[in-house]
Amino acid sequence: MVNSKDYAIETEGLVKMYNHDIKALDGVSIKVPRGNIVGYVGPNGSGKTTTIKVLTNLIRPTAGKAYINGIDANKNPKEALYSVGALIEVPGIYDYLTPHEILTYFGKVYGMKKSEINDRIEEVLKMLKLSNWVNKKVGAFSTGMLRRFAIANSFFHDPEILILDEPVIGLDPKGIKEVRDLLKLFQKQDKTTFLSSHLLNEVADTCDSVVFINDGKILIHDTVENITNSMQKNTIDVKFLKSLTKDEINRIKKFELIDGLKVVNGIIQLDYDGSAQTSSKILSQLISSGFEIISYSPESVSLEDVYISTMGDERGVR
Ligand SMILES: Nc1ncnc2c1ncn2[C@@H]1O[C@H](COP(=O)(O)OP(=O)(O)OP(=O)(O)O)[C@@H](O)[C@H]1O
Ligand SMILES: [Mg+2]
Repeated sequence: MVNSKDYAIETEGLVKMYNHDIKALDGVSIKVPRGNIVGYVGPNGSGKTTTIKVLTNLIRPTAGKAYINGIDANKNPKEALYSVGALIEVPGIYDYLTPHEILTYFGKVYGMKKSEINDRIEEVLKMLKLSNWVNKKVGAFSTGMLRRFAIANSFFHDPEILILDEPVIGLDPKGIKEVRDLLKLFQKQDKTTFLSSHLLNEVADTCDSVVFINDGKILIHDTVENITNSMQKNTIDVKFLKSLTKDEINRIKKFELIDGLKVVNGIIQLDYDGSAQTSSKILSQLISSGFEIISYSPESVSLEDVYISTMGDERGVR
């Protein structure tokens, strides 16, 4: 059995059945190198939270293995999970307690000294902009504050690995940016982060690699660059200084390298073969034919484009 310490997180053929008939995970194998940020994306019900629950030993897999730093997370959870900070949807069981009380409790669980706990409380609450709320009951917190507190809680004991299930859900744009900065800070500190998210732009911006899951199966695990390079878009949006006459449009349509032309909201959209060479040649031809161009944008492929085309219509929504 592979249980290499080279990977901070590794799963081997995870299967999870719920009630003997729902196959939430169907052979999930993922390898997360140390120091990486990995985005875990997939439709509702595809198995993200289930994977994260297995990794953190909240549930046991029906088959397969999950390792943290090479240690079996379901056989030796205490040892494996000591180096893990996790954020998983949990009901508000701590409503009547304050951040100070909750974090003191966790600090003690992790064997931290009282002075160390107090310093760390100050530090993490400052990072999540919750310093003024240290002695307020969390039951009174807004959705965003609860989320920020849950994040603070997850890395309170300064773990080397973070496993976060939809960390930015419910946060406003500023809160999302703060979490993004925090993830980048973790990356600088060489921590490993595994996070599930539906925000593909955030994932594309912060993650070293992305895993696509659908229907309990892993479809892709690669860098954002490789994933977006795997698809081509075949249009170029061009804005001209003056609006084009019918004659001018017809002239462009006759360019050999152009397969089609549409006018969309005053922008000329050219169809071509999608290659960089052709795009460059078309631009030269337009300029040498005397057209005055304000902007020339071959459409780029986003993570969302690949996601939509990969997941297709058979979304794993259950
Ligand atoms: N406790 C449970 N009992 C029975 N079925 C469950 C249970 N938890 C999850 N499932 C089912 O397992 C599948 C995977 O669910 P999971 O929560 O892992 O998906 P997810 O990818 O996290 O979805 P979302 O994006 O909505 O959070 C779904 O079909 C779900 O209905
Ligand atoms: Mg989920």
